[in-house]
Amino acid sequence: MKELSHIAQAVQASTTMAIDSMFKQMKADGIDVIGFGAGEPDFNTPDEIKEAGIQAIQNNITRYTPAAGTVELRQAVCDRMKADCNVEYKPNQVVVTSGAKHAVYLALRALVDPGDEVILPAPYWVSYIELIRMVGGVPVVVTATEKENFKLTPEKLAAAITPKTKALILNNPSNPTGMMYGAEELKGIAKVCIENDLYVISDEIYYGLVYDGAKFTSFASISPETYERTILINGVSKSYAMTGWRIGYACADSAVAKVMANYVSHSTGSPVASSQKASVTALTGSQAKIELMRQAFEERRNYLVDRMNKIPGVSCIKPEGAFYVMMNLEQLIGKTIQGVTITDDNVFADAFLKKGLVAVVPGSGFGAPNFTRWSYATSMENIKEGLDRLEKFLAE
Ligand SMILES: Cc1ncc(COP(=O)(O)O)c(C=O)c1O
Repeated sequence: MKELSHIAQAVQASTTMAIDSMFKQMKADGIDVIGFGAGEPDFNTPDEIKEAGIQAIQNNITRYTPAAGTVELRQAVCDRMKADCNVEYKPNQVVVTSGAKHAVYLALRALVDPGDEVILPAPYWVSYIELIRMVGGVPVVVTATEKENFKLTPEKLAAAITPKTKALILNNPSNPTGMMYGAEELKGIAKVCIENDLYVISDEIYYGLVYDGAKFTSFASISPETYERTILINGVSKSYAMTGWRIGYACADSAVAKVMANYVSHSTGSPVASSQKASVTALTGSQAKIELMRQAFEERRNYLVDRMNKIPGVSCIKPEGAFYVMMNLEQLIGKTIQGVTITDDNVFADAFLKKGLVAVVPGSGFGAPNFTRWSYATSMENIKEGLDRLEKFLAE
């Protein structure tokens, strides 16, 4: 047999999914294990959104739609982006996709030729690095330390740019760190991007989940110059608890959107018709339930961060958005815990799962060695029990 594609073979399995499947297997085996690995809200999709999906099926909205999504949904996206993010788009600038992940892929497809460099600030969401490679691009990872609040600085960005640099991927608020760039920080980054003529893929899927009354700023909203070079990625998965409906979207210059739409038309084809109808209800209906979910996340974050910082040997900085906390375990490196010498975050996560019965995701997969990511998209009860177990695991 001839060899498989080199590009395809180089794609790594997602670390988030790997831990999650080990956790699910342990659970299925009847083991009392608690999971902090999931990247999805534990809430159910609000009833009126579910109802809209059911109605759509009953009304025979079961056929193909335009590849870039229905005009109704694209208009709903435009209205929501204007109301929430202060950015004005027309439906021909919107591409609805089968999840935001596919929107990132399409954005990279639209921008990147083999050998082009894409700057990726670390810690990064695991899929970005693989997606860049999948389109033949070269990821240029620039690490933002915990001391820098895990945020890319304009200086570090400028230093990473070469004649081959095509784009920057910005994720705000961030998975895995939960940190959010404010308007001034974004302006600093924007200046470098404009000076060097870079596109910016700005993944803002967690924009609805920000805390402490902080104001979210969309990268595209900063100036006409950022607007024209931004491919804004967003979707209903996180804010509306709709991960399984598979609806994301990208907003961009109409020429970029057209290239992306052409790609969709020959790959996935149009996103699921009934999911699009449900998404219209999500985006245009009352946002009250969304606010209740946001408040629950904020309460959990407060508890988790407070408690974690009281446990000797570990610490975390307070995230401003999303639903993740990065636990620093540098102090544990070289120590023996429950008979296991902790040499890195992978060893820690493995031991903590097998002996502490708690699943967390090793930071290495996010370009953040010596950290683990805790998702607080789980009940307060689980969060309390998980931290009790951490305390016990470290104490013995
Ligand atoms: C930063 C970021 N972007 C995109 C996605 C993917 O969203 P979707 O489920 O809509 O594909 C995720 C999901 O974990 C994410 O964390």
